[in-house]
Amino acid sequence: MGKINLISDTVTKPSAEMLEVMMSAEVGDDVFKSDPTVNALQEKAARIFGMEDALFFPSGTMANQAAIKIHTQPGDRMFCDKWAHVYNYEGGGAAFNSGVTSCLIDGDRGMFTADQLTSLVTGRNDIHTPFNRLVCIENTTNKGGGACWDFDELKKIHSIAKSNELGYHLDGARLFNALVAKNETTKQYGELFDTISICLSKGLGAPVGSILIGNKKDMEKALRVRKLFGGGMRQAGYLAAAGLYALENNVERLSDDHKRAKIVGDALSSCSYVRKIEPIETNIVIFYLEEGINTNDFIAKMEANGVLMISMGEGKLRIVTHLDFTDVMMEELIKELKEY
Ligand SMILES: Cc1ncc(COP(=O)(O)O)c(C=O)c1O
Repeated sequence: MGKINLISDTVTKPSAEMLEVMMSAEVGDDVFKSDPTVNALQEKAARIFGMEDALFFPSGTMANQAAIKIHTQPGDRMFCDKWAHVYNYEGGGAAFNSGVTSCLIDGDRGMFTADQLTSLVTGRNDIHTPFNRLVCIENTTNKGGGACWDFDELKKIHSIAKSNELGYHLDGARLFNALVAKNETTKQYGELFDTISICLSKGLGAPVGSILIGNKKDMEKALRVRKLFGGGMRQAGYLAAAGLYALENNVERLSDDHKRAKIVGDALSSCSYVRKIEPIETNIVIFYLEEGINTNDFIAKMEANGVLMISMGEGKLRIVTHLDFTDVMMEELIKELKEY
């Protein structure tokens, strides 16, 4: 057996069927809006979320950064959890691309409450303070271990955002994991948020691509920003075809990844060297080793035995289950974990 790569759900390779639809895609120049497959993907994304329009992006980072750009002006302030991807893992893009200050909320597993937000937006508001402009949510949370937000809390945050004239953006890189885990719908989310980014290249198994979804006016602005960021692609239909295939075939099966993550978590809980495992709601397993065991040594030992995982800092180790992780691999992984 080759390496069992559990570093992320981005490590998947397109299946033979996905490659076939990519190879036979009808394409055109998408910068001139004349790629029929990209257009079909964007129309599908807008339709399933019940929103007006959508735009295909090369990456989730670019889609999020474009969203921040269209909702803000330099000097404005956005609110997000202290563990948010938009703040921690997008190269400081909110500051670099949009000149935006990030107000970090001290949430739990990447999720904060409406009350926490209220206390921040209703604080001092005069010429000394930045304009409050945007709230960013991440569902599921990456650093929070694939945790899913409570939808009622998202609704409460929505009403605070609206009564304070704040934009409401969802980093939905793994939104489909949350929808499957909690039996929620795309339309529910489309009704709540101004903009939503989704990633096709994570649990859904496409090689490249994200989509930003919103109203027509915002997507026109996003089109300009995407060009400015260098994200206008030409015959992108080959990639969009993979995205269409992913949306049609790879959503429901995310529950398999979730089941496997839980089984891996159970196995870890019986390992004496594991101190703590975060609750497992979707496809991400975060665990901590007992004092005295060096995380880098553990990762190196696992790698030598054919299992790849990563450290998330602060003693966190992360395993992510995905489309290319089979039951046979899971048995091998559990054997390696038990033998450590
Ligand atoms: C929550 C979240 N948002 C955004 C991104 C960015 O996606 P990309 O790697 O396509 O830029 C990631 C990637 O891991 C992510 O986990």
